[in-house]
Amino acid sequence: MSLKPADKNPQHLHQSNGIVLDSAYQGIDEAGWLSLFQQAKNAHLKQFIADLFGGKHINNSENRPALHSALRNLDKSPVIVDGKDVMPDVAEVWHRIEALCNKWVGVTDVIHIGIGGSDFGPRLAIEALAHIPDIESRGMRMHFLANIDTAELARIQQRALPHSTRVIIVSKSFTTLETTKNAKAIVRWLKDSGRTESQINNTLFAVTANVPAAKEFGVKEENIFPFWDWVGGRYSVWSAVGLPIALQYGFDTFKEFLSGAQAIDQHYQSAPLEENLPVIMALTLLYQQQKHHIKSFAVIPYADALDWFPKWLQQLDMESNGKSVDRDGKPVKYSCPVVFGSSGSNAQHSYFQLLHQGTEVIPIDFIAIREPMSHLPEAKEHHRILLSNCLAQAQALANGKKTDNPNNTYPGKRPSNLLILPKLNAFYLGALLALYESRTTTLGALWNINSFDQPGVELGKVLAKPIEAALKEGNPVQANGNIDAITAARINLFNH
Ligand code: F6P
Repeated sequence: MSLKPADKNPQHLHQSNGIVLDSAYQGIDEAGWLSLFQQAKNAHLKQFIADLFGGKHINNSENRPALHSALRNLDKSPVIVDGKDVMPDVAEVWHRIEALCNKWVGVTDVIHIGIGGSDFGPRLAIEALAHIPDIESRGMRMHFLANIDTAELARIQQRALPHSTRVIIVSKSFTTLETTKNAKAIVRWLKDSGRTESQINNTLFAVTANVPAAKEFGVKEENIFPFWDWVGGRYSVWSAVGLPIALQYGFDTFKEFLSGAQAIDQHYQSAPLEENLPVIMALTLLYQQQKHHIKSFAVIPYADALDWFPKWLQQLDMESNGKSVDRDGKPVKYSCPVVFGSSGSNAQHSYFQLLHQGTEVIPIDFIAIREPMSHLPEAKEHHRILLSNCLAQAQALANGKKTDNPNNTYPGKRPSNLLILPKLNAFYLGALLALYESRTTTLGALWNINSFDQPGVELGKVLAKPIEAALKEGNPVQANGNIDAITAARINLFNH
């Protein structure tokens, strides 16, 4: 494989909405691209994209559509789910979010309780848009409470002012144990802080697809923001799950975020496969799987503000496509590699040794932002250094370096993409997330995997229940139908 920029290959540079994708260091020649696009055609990718946006029951195991795109369909053109246009309901939620933004005055702290897809997206967006020039923040302290570990709970209770706190409980199912337990603990804390029942009722908000359960919990109906079972949890930041973005940075910023995603949706639907950014990004990964049997994939944003992006992508990719069987229950040859990453240049001082000289080839997506992320006097120089590091790493990985000393030899031939965003703002953050969502769904289509269910997360949850009961009892246990001998012995290490 040659990883030199392929001058004769016009297919390595693509752009959409000012975002540039450079796949020159993937080492894919013209014949390689032809074969990849043929595979995309064989997988009926265009039809898949049409079915996805058209509301077909593409989530076949759960027999429902996957219509996160409707949540950023700002034109409100009809989106039909089972014979009904869902856009009036979506637009109604937008109005309610906007109204809430205008209503929240004097709020010092917001506690957003949710986990997985009900946590990563808003947490990433709140972090990513903080301190960006031109984005005004209302300066509320945003606390994200996900883990059942009470360390997080204790930290938040120490920092938040209970009398000027609002609480948003975010759970698609409203049955997630971590979330309901944490919500109860926060209600207990509010009570202990002297807030009355009715004050607490006015403080609690919920975002959910299970409105009855939220009401049952004690959230007033007018404080519940619905979303729908046709939105996957990990694809849900565009719904009221993203409420913190609107509350902190304003409704217009939230709309900008949606509009960046919508721009990529339009590109994904209309661009030919050969010019389609998410498709090309997916195909580069497929290529490295087929040619080099890669098992891992790294994403390195050279932007500190995007440090949460790899974590968000881990759930998106691995929960969507980390599967061994295809849509028809047949074993797959390829599925999702392990996804990891963190922001550069910090990452260089951590695991880049392995990326350069480890035994495994790990393809990388480098993400760079054209404009500096601050107006500080040092911003231009620091940004230049950041970018030069990003470009240098890609070059070093691709070309390597031969020396007489094996210890100092870099094997090279380590592929990467470079994705360049014009700047980091709400529009391009939305575009970036939508780009990767569509890359994930494209990979699912290429592997014939249903990217919208997550049956693999259930077994552990079920097994935790009898174990918790045994830990609660505190007595020595024996192996039984629910607990095997090794786990029984482990429980006894805690119970003695
Ligand atoms: O257990 C995994 C999962 O179901 C994710 O798919 C989801 O994002 C997370 O839990 C939280 O689920 P919910 O929003 O229903 O609380």
